[in-house]
Amino acid sequence: MGKIHAAITGVAGYVPDEIITNFDLEKLVDTNDEWIESRTGIKQRRILRDPKKAMSDMGVEAVKQLLEKTNTKPEEVEMIVVATITGDYVFPDTANQIAHKIGATNAFGFDINAACSGFIYSLIVGSKFVETGTYKKVIVVGGDKMSSILNYEDRATCILFGDGAGAVMLEPSQENGIQDSILRGDGAGCEYLYMKAGGSLNPPTAETVANKEHFVTQDGRIVFKAAIKGMSESINDLLDRNNLTKDDIDWLIPHQANKRIISAVGDSVGFPDEKVLINIENYGNTTAGTIPLALSDFESKFKKGDKIVLTAFGGGFTWGSVLIHWAY
Ligand code: UT7
Repeated sequence: MGKIHAAITGVAGYVPDEIITNFDLEKLVDTNDEWIESRTGIKQRRILRDPKKAMSDMGVEAVKQLLEKTNTKPEEVEMIVVATITGDYVFPDTANQIAHKIGATNAFGFDINAACSGFIYSLIVGSKFVETGTYKKVIVVGGDKMSSILNYEDRATCILFGDGAGAVMLEPSQENGIQDSILRGDGAGCEYLYMKAGGSLNPPTAETVANKEHFVTQDGRIVFKAAIKGMSESINDLLDRNNLTKDDIDWLIPHQANKRIISAVGDSVGFPDEKVLINIENYGNTTAGTIPLALSDFESKFKKGDKIVLTAFGGGFTWGSVLIHWAY
């Protein structure tokens, strides 16, 4: 019997209804539509305004659609891995909240905190349980309620991010599925993209709240350069290791942080624009949500056997690329 691959057998995405355009942000901070669109490619993003709703609620919406599309009963799900940096609570994890809310009574799960690379990290973790024959139905969710950690007085960050989540089903396949991955990290990047307080180093106090330390802080220029380098290098290494060239790849699905970063990565690897899938204009950067949302938005383009590369870079620093042979 050949190697068992973990194949994506279904995808689903969910974004909240409320749209925040660049023009809406002009009313909050000193910015303008022209700057945001030309520097980032973003036109609008979605916001989960309801204070009673959290990351798990977006995950639940995506997973419910996924169960319907893949004709799966909640009790059949064995494992749920959730990529997020905005879980409902610091603890417990959001995966168990989602399992509970959808009635996945036979599933266990946990969260993975790898910022914008969270989905690809989680996909590979989930895939190992399928490849080893341990489980046959694993759900990987990626998403973030970024509006819960954004300072809407900071024009350098609040214009970039949005809320949303996506989910994929992983099942065993002899033929197609996840083929290989390169996942990397470098903790030296921490201070360039992080939330200063709220963890065990700087627990929440009246002072950390007053100093606005519970929001995303980013040195955009450093992250910009590191993102292009990390994604380009990991794609090239992945292709080399699998004896593939850029011409063998049908689709590149990059993390959607900035259209200029995506174009630079596409150019550096040599992919033509039509192979590089971009939807940042609609959602902004949904952190762990961008790749599953793109898989969901562009699903109709994919054919069985298509070679797809996912690539991401994010806080940590974390980055990497995944090679998939599409299974349906
Ligand atoms: O997903 C995780 C990884 N994150 C990323 O990959 C994000 C990486 N970084 C970026 O995408 C870009 O660095 C940003 C979009 C964040 C910023 O774009 P930039 O081209 O690097 O701009 P900058 O930070 O160099 O700022 C250029 C100018 C500055 O003004 P001065 O100093 O030239 O007078 C900023 O103050 O643009 C100004 N600026 C703005 N102007 C209008 C910064 N933010 C804004 C804004 N509206 N929202």
